Amino acid sequence: MSFTLPTNLQFDTRLKMDGLDFLAQLPDEAAPVAFLDPQYRGVLDKLAYGNEGVNRGRQRAALQQMDEATIAAFIEGIDRVLRASGHLFLWLDKFHLCSGFAPWLAGTQLTVVDMVTWDKGRMGMGYRTRRQGEHLVVLQKEQRRARGVWTAHDIPDVWRERVERGLHAHRKPLELQGRLIAAVSEPGDVVIDPAAGSFSVLEACQQQGRRFLGCDIEG
Ligand SMILES: C[S@@+](CC[C@H](N)C(=O)[O-])C[C@H]1O[C@@H](n2cnc3c(N)ncnc32)[C@H](O)[C@@H]1O
Repeated sequence: MSFTLPTNLQFDTRLKMDGLDFLAQLPDEAAPVAFLDPQYRGVLDKLAYGNEGVNRGRQRAALQQMDEATIAAFIEGIDRVLRASGHLFLWLDKFHLCSGFAPWLAGTQLTVVDMVTWDKGRMGMGYRTRRQGEHLVVLQKEQRRARGVWTAHDIPDVWRERVERGLHAHRKPLELQGRLIAAVSEPGDVVIDPAAGSFSVLEACQQQGRRFLGCDIEG
C-alpha cells in the first residue's frame, strides 16, 4: 500500500518528534508492521541498583520515560495505523511481563499470538536472579491468522544476539528484528517505530528492503 506523507514526515530518516504526535499524522491501516519499545518508568524505579554503573544509570535517567497511560496511548495509535492482520512487536521486561500488560490492549483489536525471549549474552543487574533477557511479545490485529501472513518458519522463540555497547542504553538486536520484519511483510512495505531510540529498526529495514517510518523524542 502506498500513501502520501504530511510534509514534516519522511521515510527512512531519524525524525525527532513526539511519538504520539507522529502516530496521529499517519493514515488508518497504513502499515503491516510496528515496533514499540517503551521507555518504562516502572523499570527505572525498580532498577535503582547502587552498582549499576554511573554511566549507564545516567544514560537511562536522561531518556524521557513513559507512564502506563502513555504506553496505552501509543498502542492505541499503533492499532489504528496497522492494517488488518498486521503485527505489533512489543518489547517487555520481565517486570511488566509478569505483572501484566493486558490493560494496555483494552479497546484495541490486538491480541497476543507469540513471544520471543532475547538472550543478550551478558548478565545485567538483579536483586535475586540477574537480568540477561528481555521479551518481545507478538501482537496481531484482527483478522488473527498465521497462514499466508507469517512466512518464515525458522525463527526460534529464544534468540541469542549480542548488541554493540555504547550506541543506546536500550538498543535492541538488529538481526532478530530484521528476521521478524521479513517474516510478516513484503519488500517495500512500511514499518513503524514511534519511539525508535538508536533507530535499530531503521537499520533492520534498510537491510531487509522495507521502508521505515519512525521517530524519537530525543535527538
Ligand atoms: C527503550 S528506548 C528504544 C530503543 C530502541 N528500540 C533501540 O533499539 O535503540 C525508548 C525510547 O523512547 C523514547 N521516548 C520516550 N518518550 C517518547 C515520546 N513521547 N515520543 C517518542 N519517543 C519517546 C526515548 O527517548 C527512548 O529513546
